[in-house]
Amino acid sequence: MTESLTVTAPATKPAPKPAKPHLPDAQMVTTVKHWTDRLFSFRVTRPQSLRFRSGEFVMIGLMGDNGKPLLRAYSIASPNWDEELEFYSIKVPDGPLTSKLQHINVGDEIILRPKPVGTLVHDALLPGKRVWFLATGTGIAPFASLMRDPETYEKYDQVIMMHTCRTADELEYGRQLVEDLQNDELIGEMVEGKLRYYPTTTREETAHMGRITDNLSSGKVFEDLGLPRMNPEEDRAMVCGSLDFNIDVKAVLESFGLREGANSEPKEYVVEKAFVGDGI
Ligand code: FAD
Ligand code: A2P
Repeated sequence: MTESLTVTAPATKPAPKPAKPHLPDAQMVTTVKHWTDRLFSFRVTRPQSLRFRSGEFVMIGLMGDNGKPLLRAYSIASPNWDEELEFYSIKVPDGPLTSKLQHINVGDEIILRPKPVGTLVHDALLPGKRVWFLATGTGIAPFASLMRDPETYEKYDQVIMMHTCRTADELEYGRQLVEDLQNDELIGEMVEGKLRYYPTTTREETAHMGRITDNLSSGKVFEDLGLPRMNPEEDRAMVCGSLDFNIDVKAVLESFGLREGANSEPKEYVVEKAFVGDGI
């Protein structure tokens, strides 16, 4: 007698895959772009009820391994008229959030707490002729929002974006954003002749070099752009960078006679930290 191999159907149906747990305040990722091995940007759906002032930040994150939301502060990089929300992010190799966030893909969900706050808003400054956006690293994020907001050009005759990074590739997100803005059919006309972009590097040879603090103190940026020395009658400034940068640039702005303002008491400049910590 020959043995025959019989394949029997399983007695029970395979258990259905467990549904993906639905995150609280979930928003879906629509675009991801990696700029360098340390920097990426992404866009997510915008909660219908979310209203914010360009320049503000929100708490975003992912579900942690312990089942609790792991959230961090992030500036909203998109303007308040955009139907999606954009973020520009560092990748900290062993950072609790960004070691995971850097792997998000289109269709994934992130957590977004819809409570925008922040000091880098037009209401925190007295009216002026010029506004200076001063940023290092990912500190350009709130200005990516403000540069795309028509209100910025209604309020000021001149808008100067100074962005400094160690190397040229770290400037690329901002460079492309400004280029797109200048070529944009609607906003292009509005920013023409008003938006001045002054990117510099400190550790790679490029056309413009040097720290923001040095280029302001030496007067180099005023000479290069053909502008008068910064003064409290005409100039307003918004600052976003590392703690050390913020401290040093505040001293420079104060030396020009500008005073720090807040939402509750508008003055000539405002500051926000781009991150908490002392570098990676
Ligand atoms: P964390 O434990 O939070 O940070 C680990 C270390 O990494 C920090 O101690 C610091 O030394 C360094 N680090 C953190 N963030 C940065 C950074 N952005 N650039 C350089 N070094 C950093 N981060 C963004 O990438 N984009 C933003 O738009 C942004 N907006 C912020 C707005 C505010 C008001 C604040 C307070 C922080 C903001 N941050 C932003 C920083 C962000 O909240 C997180 O710190 C960052 O996402 C890293 O999270 P993590 O959990 O991986 O590491
Ligand atoms: P530098 O290369 O001379 O340190 P980081 O990557 O360390 O966050 O720095 C981002 C940019 O900010 C770099 O170009 C760095 O210049 C500059 N920077 C760092 N600290 C200060 C500071 N205290 N004042 C002015 N610029 C700073």
